[in-house]
Amino acid sequence: MAYKNFSTEQLQSMDNAHHLHPFTDHDELREQGVRVVTNADGNYVYDSEGNAILDAMAGLWCVNAGYGREELARAAYEQMQELAYYNTFFKTTHPQVALLAKRVADLAPAHINQVFFGSSGSESNDTAIRTVRHFWALEGKPEKHIIISRHDAYHGSTIAATSMGGMGAMHSQLGPMLPGFVHVIAPYAYELAHEGENDHDFGLRAAKAVEDAILEAGAENVAAFVGEPIQGAGGVKIPPASYWPEIQRICRKYDVLLMLDEVITGFGRTGAWFAAESMGIEPDTITVAKAITSGYQPLSAVLVGDRIAKTLASHGEYYHGYTYSGHPVACAVALANIDIIEKEGLIERVRDDTGEYLIKTLQSVVGDHPLVGEIRGFGLLVAIEIVKDKGTKERFEPSGSAAAIVRDRSIEGGMMMRAVGDTMILSPPLTWTRETIDGAAAIVKLALDGAQSKLNT
Ligand SMILES: Cc1ncc(COP(=O)(O)O)c(C=O)c1O
Repeated sequence: MAYKNFSTEQLQSMDNAHHLHPFTDHDELREQGVRVVTNADGNYVYDSEGNAILDAMAGLWCVNAGYGREELARAAYEQMQELAYYNTFFKTTHPQVALLAKRVADLAPAHINQVFFGSSGSESNDTAIRTVRHFWALEGKPEKHIIISRHDAYHGSTIAATSMGGMGAMHSQLGPMLPGFVHVIAPYAYELAHEGENDHDFGLRAAKAVEDAILEAGAENVAAFVGEPIQGAGGVKIPPASYWPEIQRICRKYDVLLMLDEVITGFGRTGAWFAAESMGIEPDTITVAKAITSGYQPLSAVLVGDRIAKTLASHGEYYHGYTYSGHPVACAVALANIDIIEKEGLIERVRDDTGEYLIKTLQSVVGDHPLVGEIRGFGLLVAIEIVKDKGTKERFEPSGSAAAIVRDRSIEGGMMMRAVGDTMILSPPLTWTRETIDGAAAIVKLALDGAQSKLNT
């Protein structure tokens, strides 16, 4: 490997001098020194100093099948030799994209049978936005263009995805937001439920905010509601069980389409192929990316429901597409990845065993910890709220500082966890076993204990 000819310091210095990182404070990065991740295997990544780090984030919520899969490397190698690239614009297709479209349609809810490919989650959300607006225009209702989203939603970093997302910090750096997006409250009971309001009632109130927004904009102007089944980058916000059925009812009542962003939840994380299945949602579009290839290749897709697809396919050309729509290498890897998930029963493992085991283990090992306000989870997606006072839910100042210490202690202890504001996130590969979970919980405890002594001094 070429990097083996370079020292850690040499790689760091090139990186410092020339590499602009995503979502990074570069002054802080230079001060702390960038970690050079050189290789990975199974559930672990390794850095250039030989540290082994248990990856509780599956890369960036994507390496569901774990690292070092020879089958995926072979699929890419063989596909590159056979057909490294060809477009799907010129009335052409290739075996891998046809097979993958069928495979994904077969896995998707019954009323979803068409798939449009891209390379990233952001791109797929841009496609979904254009597609629902184009659908309404074809239906003779071009004024139906507003998309209702939530605060703290993350749908990607393109201008459209940033505008549709609900991240205040991102909006503040965007300049003028794209028009046509409205944001309502997130279904985040831990912080937003009123005193004495139970989860069920809060879920209905959070859904009512969507209805209020539809009425305010006028249903005749609203194209769709968009949401992640569980808000991931916004802090693993898991809606109460009352939320999604009520959203579904409201969307149907006002003929507003339902766009589901399953870029994180798709391909197994919630113990089903899609959270639509595990949460009983019937969306008109589903966007996926990340785990469709377990992150081994950049690939995304919009799964398009029959209602939209029927209109789209019978009104001439839709002027939309990417050079890499249905890239053969990415599709070949996706097919091999889906084979692995199926053959190894990774989804069943999450659904019947590790999902529940992870949350229960964390609750028993650190549930009583003074820094822990709440632990919540769904499948292999977990959030731990970091608080100064468990009773009042008071946070440490400045916001996010305590969670950053927990994260740093966790990495020192040998595990990559993410801090989002005051919330710790775990979203591990689906290959984690009970034994991996026991080890992870011990590191979480170590990190919380370490942070507590630092915060008390
Ligand atoms: C729910 C969700 N949607 C969209 C995206 C954007 O995906 P990408 O970074 O591949 O553009 C992400 C990325 O984390 C995501 O979590």
